[in-house]
Amino acid sequence: MASTATRALAYAAAQVARVAFYGAHYLAARAIARDTFSGVEKPAHPLPSMATILSAMRDLFVEDWKNVEAGLYPLPVNLAAELRRARASARFIADVPKVISRQRRRGHDEVRARANGLPLYYRQNFHFQTDGYLTEESARLYDFQVEALFAGTADAMRRRAYVPIARLLDRTKTKKPVLLDIGAGTGQFLAFVKSARPKLKTIALDLSEPYLARVRRALSAYKDVEFIAAPAEAMPLPDASIDAAASIFVFHELPPKVRAAVAKQIARVLKPGGIFVLAETIQYGDAPAFEGLIDVFPSLMHEPYYSSYAKTDLDKLFAGAGLRRTATDIAYLTKIALFEKPMGCKPRVRKRR
Ligand SMILES: C[S@@+](CC[C@H](N)C(=O)[O-])C[C@H]1O[C@@H](n2cnc3c(N)ncnc32)[C@H](O)[C@@H]1O
Repeated sequence: MASTATRALAYAAAQVARVAFYGAHYLAARAIARDTFSGVEKPAHPLPSMATILSAMRDLFVEDWKNVEAGLYPLPVNLAAELRRARASARFIADVPKVISRQRRRGHDEVRARANGLPLYYRQNFHFQTDGYLTEESARLYDFQVEALFAGTADAMRRRAYVPIARLLDRTKTKKPVLLDIGAGTGQFLAFVKSARPKLKTIALDLSEPYLARVRRALSAYKDVEFIAAPAEAMPLPDASIDAAASIFVFHELPPKVRAAVAKQIARVLKPGGIFVLAETIQYGDAPAFEGLIDVFPSLMHEPYYSSYAKTDLDKLFAGAGLRRTATDIAYLTKIALFEKPMGCKPRVRKRR
């Protein structure tokens, strides 16, 4: 194995390159948008300075590196995967004017009619993105867009959600533990998890068939993966069948009632003693220096349920479903909240009609 110094150098070089590459795409998108960004309502809180942003990014990477060194996951440097994703650069830039145009005319309901059969709250152009979550083209662009939005830090924030899962897997006596990713998107998180634990049984659940198709591709080298196209509020999974569940950047896109329904479903499918890891945008009170971003994000990115999410009492939401918060971690712009289903909790038995 390479020495720690060599590994640290590889890690630092990879992260700096990512931040420079995706940060440049973020700035390019802003330059194309010009007046659109300044036209957004004035935030109630100040926006963070560049120094604050860079310092918080550094903290994120330092923690990430510590987790690698602690053996929680392998060195996250995968040049082939990075190059594959980076190839979407021209596609991303070509799409920016369409997103900006939608943003200017508040065109967030282009997919409403097309997506029949899917819940109404879902049939929107979240982030003003082309085709919402409904096409292959949207799925092809998604990872690049997210990394550009977070200037190359998205994967490092997602990795933090794996820490409590790795700890659970290390201590569990279950022979074949199961991990469920709710709103798996294009499979970035599960691809990372499988790189760390290739034999772990994993389930990717998402409402979008085209996004699930990307997960299939991302995980094609691995066995023991199941793909489910279904709403998180009605998961077709047996009671008490899941050891660990995660949901990353999904809850802020759900209306309040759906959030509560999803929380109940999570509690239902988890085994007693099982964990749920919520990795979501920071909320008011979590990181005061970034509250200006919480103010502007929903209107800039068409996030209709984000403002209410940012004020949601998570303890109350999940306690209502029978889950108890046991830990919280802030990873730059993401909060990782760990919930447990108490041991004595019997699975709810469905009544026969
Ligand atoms: C912002 S993306 C996050 C994707 C991924 N977790 C990530 O880390 O990038 C939200 C994802 O949640 C999915 N989604 C939204 N509402 C859902 C629901 N009710 N049930 C299942 N999936 C849902 C969307 O299709 C989309 O893939």
